[in-house]
Amino acid sequence: MTQSGDETAPLGASPDAPKVVVIIPTYNERENLPIILDRLFAAVPAAHSLVVDDGSPDGTGDVADKIAAEDGRVKVLHRTEKAGLGAAYVAGFRWALDAGYDLIVEMDADGSHAPEQLPRLLAATRHADLVLGSRWVPGGQVVNWPKSREMLSRGGNLYTRLALGIELHDATGGYRVYRRTVLQTIELSGISSQGYCFQVDLAWRTVQAGFRVVEVPITFAEREIGESKMSGSIVREALLRVTEWGAAHRAAQLRGLFRRG
Ligand code: GDD
Ligand code: MN
Repeated sequence: MTQSGDETAPLGASPDAPKVVVIIPTYNERENLPIILDRLFAAVPAAHSLVVDDGSPDGTGDVADKIAAEDGRVKVLHRTEKAGLGAAYVAGFRWALDAGYDLIVEMDADGSHAPEQLPRLLAATRHADLVLGSRWVPGGQVVNWPKSREMLSRGGNLYTRLALGIELHDATGGYRVYRRTVLQTIELSGISSQGYCFQVDLAWRTVQAGFRVVEVPITFAEREIGESKMSGSIVREALLRVTEWGAAHRAAQLRGLFRRG
């Protein structure tokens, strides 16, 4: 499922080129947001961006509005309170589907996901319905991440692979591109994952729906400004959910075996 990054041919700006929107969820990313948007439009000028802000106390929402007033490629979705990454993305996906985008990108605001690598991810959608930017395939890496976070990510991905029986090496990562058909097919209202297990949830639903998933290596760099929102409750939710999904999947497999026998 790994794909090398050599298909770098840009998606042209011709009228039939796929319409790309990059959804950026934000919570207290006031300094990071202008930087990431500048980098995004330098790397992929034809892209649009949707900022989904959860009423950041630091005023990220106002910063986003100012940018949107000057650049028609940027839109802002304001949500009233911090309701988790999953809920923010579901709201963003609904908006993006309504607006008719063909390729829907997830990207963190803090610079961990390099926009300069986005053309490679976009190009990989030629052979895939979901492209995962992957830290844990050959050619992928993390820079400046504390050892504890690296262990958590590697361990979480190993557990996910074993529990769900899927061949994905970075199902927890948050740098990815969906073809719109995937998000149209998946029942978005059925998604209750709040925290970062939302990423596994969607990858799992995509695999189960029979879509093609590829992993493209990325370099994930730890943020330089602001703080991670990762927390103990986010880890606990992920562990519990993945275990439940795995158990349900194995039970269904067993039932299938008995019926055939
Ligand atoms: N709107 C909104 N609401 N945005 C949020 C929320 C929320 O409740 N929580 C986090 N975010 C935003 C942050 O502002 C940032 O832009 C992005 O989501 C990622 O949050 P970080 O807190 O920087 O995540 P991380 O660096 O610890 O974790 C990264 O790795 C995880 C594990 O691989 C992310 O890429 C996660 O998506 C990934 O699951
Ligand atoms: Mn981060």
